[in-house]
Amino acid sequence: MSKILVTYATRAGSTVAVAEKIGEALRANGAIVDVCAVKEVRDVNGYAAVIIGSAIRMGSWLPEAVEFAKRNQAQLRQLPTAFFTCHRLNTSDDVTSRQAREAYTAPVRQIVTPKTEVFFNGTMDYAKLNFLDRTLAKAVEKSTNTKEGDFRNWDAIRAWAESLAPMLQVA
Ligand SMILES: Cc1cc2nc3c(=O)[nH]c(=O)nc-3n(C[C@H](O)[C@H](O)[C@H](O)COP(=O)(O)O)c2cc1C
Repeated sequence: MSKILVTYATRAGSTVAVAEKIGEALRANGAIVDVCAVKEVRDVNGYAAVIIGSAIRMGSWLPEAVEFAKRNQAQLRQLPTAFFTCHRLNTSDDVTSRQAREAYTAPVRQIVTPKTEVFFNGTMDYAKLNFLDRTLAKAVEKSTNTKEGDFRNWDAIRAWAESLAPMLQVA
C-alpha cells in the first residue's frame, strides 16, 4: 500500500500534535503514514504523497520547513503535496485576513505547488517560549488584541485530513 509522509516544523511544540492528528485521521482511512519533523526526513523517496506543515514566526514558515521544500523540491514536484500552517493572526474569513495568511506561504508555493493548503488557528503558550519570543508575542498581543491560549480546532483538523485522500490520489 502507498505510504504518506506528514512532516512538520515547530518552535513551541503545538504543531506536533496537529501533524499527529492528521496522521491519525489518514490512518483511520486506511493509509500507511509516517509523521516526523522536517529535520528528521532524509529524503521523500518511497512516499506516494507528502503533507508539509509549519508554525508561523514573524509572517513566515519556520526556516527548516522552507529548507525542506527547497532540498526536496525535485521529488516533491512529482508528488501530490498538501500544506498546513498553524498560526494566531489573520484568522478571520474576510479577504484582508485571508490574503494576509496566504502571504505566509507564498514563498514556499514558489518552490512547490500544493494540491491544497489549509490554515489552522494555533496555540500561544508563553511558558513554552524563550525570552525573545515571549517578548515579541506579548508586544504583538497588545497591538492585535490576540490572546494566550490553545485555539486548535481538532474537528477541523481531522475533517481536513479526511478530505485529503482523494486529492492526494492515495487509497
Ligand atoms: C515570536 C512569535 C511570532 C509569531 N508570529 C506570527 C505571525 O507573524 N503570524 C501569525 O499568524 N502567528 C504568529 N505567531 C503565532 C504562532 O504561529 C502560533 O502560536 C503557532 O501555533 C505556534 O506553533 P508551535 O507551538 O508549533 O511553535 C507567532 C508566535 C510567536 C511566539
